[in-house]
Amino acid sequence: MTEEFHRIRRLPPYVFAEVNKAKASARARGEDIIDLGMGNPDTPTPSHIVQKLVETVADPRAHRYSVSRGIPGLRRALAGYYERRFNVGLDPETEVIATLGSKEGLANLASAITSPGDTILVPNPSYPIHQFGFIIAGASVRSIPATPDEEMLRALDRAVHHSVPKPTALIVNFPSNPTAYVADLDFYRELVAFARKHEIWIMSDLAYAEIYFGDRVPPSILEVPGAKDIAVEFTSLSKTYSMAGWRMGFAAGNPRLISALTRIKSYLDYGAFTPIQVAAVAALSGPQDCVAEIRNIYRERRDVLIRGLHAAGWDVPSPEGSMFAWAPIPEKFRELGSVGFSKLLLGEAGVAVAPGLGFGEHGEGFVRIGLVENTQRLRQATRAIRHFMTEHNAVPTPQRDPAVTDSVS
Ligand SMILES: Cc1ncc(COP(=O)(O)O)c(C=O)c1O
Repeated sequence: MTEEFHRIRRLPPYVFAEVNKAKASARARGEDIIDLGMGNPDTPTPSHIVQKLVETVADPRAHRYSVSRGIPGLRRALAGYYERRFNVGLDPETEVIATLGSKEGLANLASAITSPGDTILVPNPSYPIHQFGFIIAGASVRSIPATPDEEMLRALDRAVHHSVPKPTALIVNFPSNPTAYVADLDFYRELVAFARKHEIWIMSDLAYAEIYFGDRVPPSILEVPGAKDIAVEFTSLSKTYSMAGWRMGFAAGNPRLISALTRIKSYLDYGAFTPIQVAAVAALSGPQDCVAEIRNIYRERRDVLIRGLHAAGWDVPSPEGSMFAWAPIPEKFRELGSVGFSKLLLGEAGVAVAPGLGFGEHGEGFVRIGLVENTQRLRQATRAIRHFMTEHNAVPTPQRDPAVTDSVS
């Protein structure tokens, strides 16, 4: 009875725990910590969605067990979103399922399709459930680069030639957590061609479909002709409508994968509480100005954060999408590693960030900074970081080209 359970042994200690502990102690001492370490949306759910929940909850018929795969109107509403947004037609009966947040769907699909010992291809760094959903299910994970470019495609090619057994599934996530990389449709075309040729399932995580800041609007992999032969895509109301606590997501695409997920979920759950499903229909089918408003809030925060960090002497690329900046650790602190640097920043600047190592070994050398506080708090954070950088003599001496002016894109 002393030995750890098999599945638990496969889950390494939580990398974020150390920083979280330091954060909790600082708060217990009464320090004001600006927490940019989480990916938890802080803006309220739009009121028409909340009202629909309140209205429906008053109806006793809504209190019974619901439908595991989602009420028909909800599956139709998701199909309507795909039609409007991506020009992708979906059959709500066979190609759509509602999930208890996209995280649950990712984990349960992994368990539905995995045999022990299967090889799964997962970007590194990535959102933890991308690899751990499969690890819990007994698979082996082969890491691939997280960049939506030739490097990933070359690594995929090597993986199919050198992995034993041959990979059965591949995960992608753009706009990405934690890296904020965004993919375009041409990249998805290559990915779909590759996966069809080698008979590999693709699970695309599109949780940040609507959180983008520039002209590149994130596409769906299902826009690629033939994608439905091998791909399923996860979307979520968590970020799009600030509904993270409601636990409402979807999987859409390949009918065999949807059927597998439907089957396993029918054994595990009775679906989200009906009023939540009805309110989710109101979100997807009601007025959409709130989506642009939420996007604008993140864009403004992105601009404030990046401008402030640049002014502090920290050269962080401006993210095109997602809720995060993926920041290379300043040269001066690189040897501390991402956990050490995060702890130092917390202790001295009062700013919490997520160490890159928590997203996989290739996340080392980076920290993830969340756009999860208002602009005033972000300004306060970047002022504290500026002071911290100056105190440590960490501001790089600018190599000035007189023809180039400082600008923030
Ligand atoms: C890339 C990615 N996928 C999925 C999720 C989980 O979202 P949900 O709330 O739909 O489970 C998150 C949450 O942060 C995420 O960053």
